[in-house]
Amino acid sequence: MEEQQYKLLDGKAVSAQMKQEMAEEVAQIKAAGGKIPHLAAILVGHDGGSETYVASKVKTCNEIGFKSTLIRYESDVTEEELLRKVDELNNDPDVDGFIVQLPLPKHISEQKIIEAIDYRKDVDGFHPINVGRMSIGLPCFVSATPAGILELLRRYEIPTRGKHCVVLGRSNIVGKPMATLMMQKAYPGDCTVTVCHSRSENLKEMCQSADIIIVALGVPEFLKGDMVKDGVVIVDVGTTRVPDASRKSGFKLTGDVKFDEVAPKASYITPVPGGVGPMTIISLMRNTLLAGKKAIYK
Ligand code: GUN
Repeated sequence: MEEQQYKLLDGKAVSAQMKQEMAEEVAQIKAAGGKIPHLAAILVGHDGGSETYVASKVKTCNEIGFKSTLIRYESDVTEEELLRKVDELNNDPDVDGFIVQLPLPKHISEQKIIEAIDYRKDVDGFHPINVGRMSIGLPCFVSATPAGILELLRRYEIPTRGKHCVVLGRSNIVGKPMATLMMQKAYPGDCTVTVCHSRSENLKEMCQSADIIIVALGVPEFLKGDMVKDGVVIVDVGTTRVPDASRKSGFKLTGDVKFDEVAPKASYITPVPGGVGPMTIISLMRNTLLAGKKAIYK
């Protein structure tokens, strides 16, 4: 079999371009005397991944010219205290959008917190009103990872209409919304979508017939070369920290795709890191800009 030359879906480059576009728009808003978009983030505890993500979100806000506020709690914060802060942010006219970084400690109900957020400020798109509006194709905040993946497919002009898209994983944050979006009557979209997960019996056969595979299982190097067909488009959402003593950080960010085996068969593939990760953060920024402009909800 002849190996084909794959192209990288370069999330780092695309997100840098989007950042530039948004920075210019914020500068124009500022020059016209408009309101600077303001994102607030609540971070509970000291989970390594969450610390990194939130720090990166705050940094990107600053680079674009948004206002940002980081609110920190220790992991013994009560649900009541957190709900009070959510209520305060809901009612703060200066805050356009805010997020509560997940996961939360076991004694706090994530669902209760999510549902307490005013859906008009829910730039994560996790509130049931935003999820519901997305699923019936109404204007809403689309959660950042699926929105980022759509933008990546759009900017690389990946054909999607009529294609078989296999989504691996059924999480509320990625798998489910991704499947919904890829089947919607739109571009990117119009796919025939199959969702596979840990209980699927014919996962390999499904993947072998896929034109596009979006992998969001959180299982390092799960997707192997013999599971895909030639010319497949691969989107790898995995970002597991696998211990690596040779690195200063002590870990290696590892995707859900065995890159060395799959890439030679792919037409397009996202790297890890530098693929979906930067697109996720920039999509949150996009939602913040939309919130600041009251572009979705008044
Ligand atoms: N944890 C993992 N991904 C996300 C995300 O997109 N938003 C929030 N708030 N928490 C997360």
